[in-house]
Amino acid sequence: MAGYTNQRRRLRTSSQLRELSASVTLSHKHFIQPLFIDETVRQREAMPALSGVNRDTIDSACEQIEQDLKNGVAKFLLFPVPQNKSDHPSDFSYFVKAIQTIRAKFGASVWVASDVCLCAYTLHGHCGVMNADGSQVLNKETNERLADYSLQLAQAGADCIAPSDVMDGRVKAIRQTLDENQFHAVSIMSYGAKFQSSYYGPFREASRCSLEHHHGQLLDRKTYQVSLFNPSDAAATAKRDVDEGADLIIVKPAVLYMDIIQRLRGEIYQPIAAYHVSGEYQGIELLAREGLLARDKGHLEAWTALFRAGANAVISYASRHAKDWIDKVEY
Ligand code: PBG
Ligand code: ZN
Repeated sequence: MAGYTNQRRRLRTSSQLRELSASVTLSHKHFIQPLFIDETVRQREAMPALSGVNRDTIDSACEQIEQDLKNGVAKFLLFPVPQNKSDHPSDFSYFVKAIQTIRAKFGASVWVASDVCLCAYTLHGHCGVMNADGSQVLNKETNERLADYSLQLAQAGADCIAPSDVMDGRVKAIRQTLDENQFHAVSIMSYGAKFQSSYYGPFREASRCSLEHHHGQLLDRKTYQVSLFNPSDAAATAKRDVDEGADLIIVKPAVLYMDIIQRLRGEIYQPIAAYHVSGEYQGIELLAREGLLARDKGHLEAWTALFRAGANAVISYASRHAKDWIDKVEY
């Protein structure tokens, strides 16, 4: 078309046209809410490192779920914070009890995914069992424990097992154990593209699994989590998890790794859940606290980016506000 035209801006003139032009729409149905169930607290406690997030007892978690259901959240990702730590963890009974209680109380009205990792249980804070001199996280030994743990969680009533340890072959080991015990309907949401990131700091405080107090030789998770410099490794690891039986794939962190979401979208047919991790979440919270950003708009913009990149679901500490905030979005 020759000459001057307002063609691009004309589409932006009214909210009606902006609504009609939108190709990304958000729904609270695509959100998963994390909960920390903490054996060391006697009542609900706020977490300064994660604004608006609490440590719950089993009872207060049930109250929280009741309230979240009213706010349109019915999908949860549970994290245990056990009281006793050991370098060869085998007692998962507290978390098992938490899941049994939630299942008994809420039945099929909630979808319960359980994080499966050893880092909240081990004294050193690594995600698996270590060798005697503390120089390596042992793959096979860790997988055996994760599979046993997963079975206990399935027996307790978990709908989904979410292994976050990043050992090789753990999806296969877990799937096999679940199937052998007739838990064919229990799904696996694997952390298939989990990067070795400095954005997990607030979470590690929350679940008391920081490596800071570890005096061994391995002071980071670089020998099992994926390097941020190696996106192909993330793609291959996620695909491998799918081949081993993962039903959903988590990309984590989320906004910082949108290239991976977009890439996987073209390579796998499994749903992708983007985990907007604690550091990403808290960054927005702190900006909002300083009055430099509107809290709701800040989170909404990050979530929108994730869906645009191709995510099917978002795991956010602010999921319980998704319905309210999305209802109020103005295009
Ligand atoms: C445990 C686990 C971590 C997170 C989820 N599961 C920490 C880690 O792997 O170091 C991070 C979540 C967040 O930062 O919000 N393996
Ligand atoms: Zn871990």
